[in-house]
Amino acid sequence: MPKPTYHILVCSNTRPPGHPKPSCGSQGAGQLLMAFSMGLMERGIPPGQILVTGSACLGPCEQGPTVVVYPDGTWYSKVKETDIPAILDEHIGKGTPVARLNPNAIWEG
Ligand code: FES
Repeated sequence: MPKPTYHILVCSNTRPPGHPKPSCGSQGAGQLLMAFSMGLMERGIPPGQILVTGSACLGPCEQGPTVVVYPDGTWYSKVKETDIPAILDEHIGKGTPVARLNPNAIWEG
């Protein structure tokens, strides 16, 4: 099996009702995971070439849903389902993080 080109981590953490911190799972992370998977299939990406994995909390919960793309370590915050095509076409397809989504802004203060 060849090494994957990219690994997309989608925070899918959930918290119980009434918890003081928000969670990506309650903000649509499940739909994002499905949209990434469907988007890869629609683009004819062979299984295993790009991995999409739900993860536990990645840290910046207030800025969720959080998505991180490796190996370049690009962080996307407040990701919406409508952002997925751009991430797949521009970042995964062309290797250029999607500037209009302010990648890595969470770490720039
Ligand atoms: S719950 Fe998603 S970053 Fe913490």
